[in-house]
Amino acid sequence: MERVNPAQSNSARVKVELGERSYNISIGTDTLCGLGPALKPLDINPVIGLITNPTVSHYYGHTVMDSLRTSGFEPILITIPDGEQYKDILWAYYIYGEMLSNRLDRSSAIAALGGGVIGDITGFVASTYMRGIPYIQVPTTLLSHVDSSVGGKTGINHPLGKNMIGSFYQPRLVWVDIATLKTLPRREFIAGLAEVIKYGVIADSVLFEYLEDNREKIISLEADTITYIVKRSCEIKASVVAADEKEAGFRAILNYGHTIGHAIETITAYREFLHGEAVAIGMLYAAGIAKDMGMLKEDEFKRISSLIRIYGLPYEIPKDISVPAIHEAVKVDKKRKAGRIRMVLPEGIGRVSIVSLDSIP
Ligand SMILES: NC(=O)c1ccc[n+]([C@@H]2O[C@H](COP(=O)([O-])OP(=O)(O)OC[C@H]3O[C@@H](n4cnc5c(N)ncnc54)[C@H](O)[C@@H]3O)[C@@H](O)[C@H]2O)c1
Repeated sequence: MERVNPAQSNSARVKVELGERSYNISIGTDTLCGLGPALKPLDINPVIGLITNPTVSHYYGHTVMDSLRTSGFEPILITIPDGEQYKDILWAYYIYGEMLSNRLDRSSAIAALGGGVIGDITGFVASTYMRGIPYIQVPTTLLSHVDSSVGGKTGINHPLGKNMIGSFYQPRLVWVDIATLKTLPRREFIAGLAEVIKYGVIADSVLFEYLEDNREKIISLEADTITYIVKRSCEIKASVVAADEKEAGFRAILNYGHTIGHAIETITAYREFLHGEAVAIGMLYAAGIAKDMGMLKEDEFKRISSLIRIYGLPYEIPKDISVPAIHEAVKVDKKRKAGRIRMVLPEGIGRVSIVSLDSIP
C-alpha cells in the first residue's frame, strides 16, 4: 500500500481546549514579523514585556520588537543571561523589578522569546506578577516548539532540585516560527527530536513511521516536513493536556523516557547530556524493560532502537553509571508515588501504559 504524505503545508494551527482558558498554537514559517498583529485581538495593554536572552535576542529581538511597535505596542526588552542556571528565583526577581520600574500593570502582558528556559521563567513570572497577568510563548528551539511552550507548566529551579518551584498557568497564545530552527545549534535540534520520537511512541504510529521515512528532509529542515512533525507533536500534547491539565494521572504518559532520563541528568549533574539526549536513553531503556516483561514485541523494540540511532541520539546508559545508582536517583524523583517507581512503558508503537515497579530492572 502506498503511504500518503501528510506533510503538505508550511503552516498549521492547533487549539488547546481548556474551556475559557483555551488558546491557539500557531505554527508558521518566517512568521515572527506577524506577532504584533496576532496579539492585537487579545485585548492587552500596549506596554508589553519581551523576555529573552542575548543569544536569541541577537537573531530575533529586532524583528519581534519591530513587529510589536508597528502594531501599536510599546515593548520593553528584558534580557536575562543564557543558561539553565539562570532559571532561578534571583532572575525571576530581576524580571519583576524591570516590569515594576517600567510600570507594567495587571492588564499588561509579557512574551517569552526563546527556548524552554525563557518560556518556563516567563510563565512563572506571569503567574505570580500582580497575582497573574497574561503571557505569550514565542518558542525558538525544537524542544520548546513541541513541548515546553504548550501545556502551562511553568517553573524555576532551586539549588536542591530542578523545576521544584512553579505553577500550572496557561499562555494566551503560542506563536511558533519554525524558521528559527535555522540558527539553532544542531545538537539542540537533534535533542528536541527525541521529544518528537516520544510522541510517536506514546500516541501515533503514523508520526513514528514518518520519522523513520523522512530523516533527510527532517535533518535539512524542509519546511512542510518540520511543520508536520511540530503540528502532530503539538496536537498530541494539546489533547493530553486537555484531558488532564494538572497531571492527575493520564498526563504522566508524556513522561515516557523521563524517569531514567532525569536520573541520568541528575547523576551527571546536567553537564553531560542535553535533556532530549537523556530522554532518548531513557526511552530505549524503558522499551527494553517492556520487551523483557513481554509487553512489547521484539521487532517494535528494534524499531524504537533504530529510530533513536538514525537521528544520532545517544541510546545507552554511560558505562560508569550503574543501575543501582539510577535506582537511587529515581527514588528522589517527583515521578515516584507511595514508594513505588512509576514508569511509562510502550506496549507497541503508538501505545503506552503506566506501570508501578519496585525497582529498576
Ligand atoms: N514547561 C514544560 O512543560 C517543559 C517541558 C520540557 C522542558 N522544559 C524546560 O525547558 C528547558 C530546556 O529548554 P530548551 O531545550 O529549549 O533549552 P534552552 O532554552 O536552554 O535553549 C537551548 C540553547 O539554544 C539557544 N537558542 C534558543 N533558540 C535559539 C535559536 N533559534 N537559534 C540559536 N540559538 C537558540 C538558547 O539561548 C540556549 O543556549 C529546561 O529548563 C526544561 O526544564 C519545560
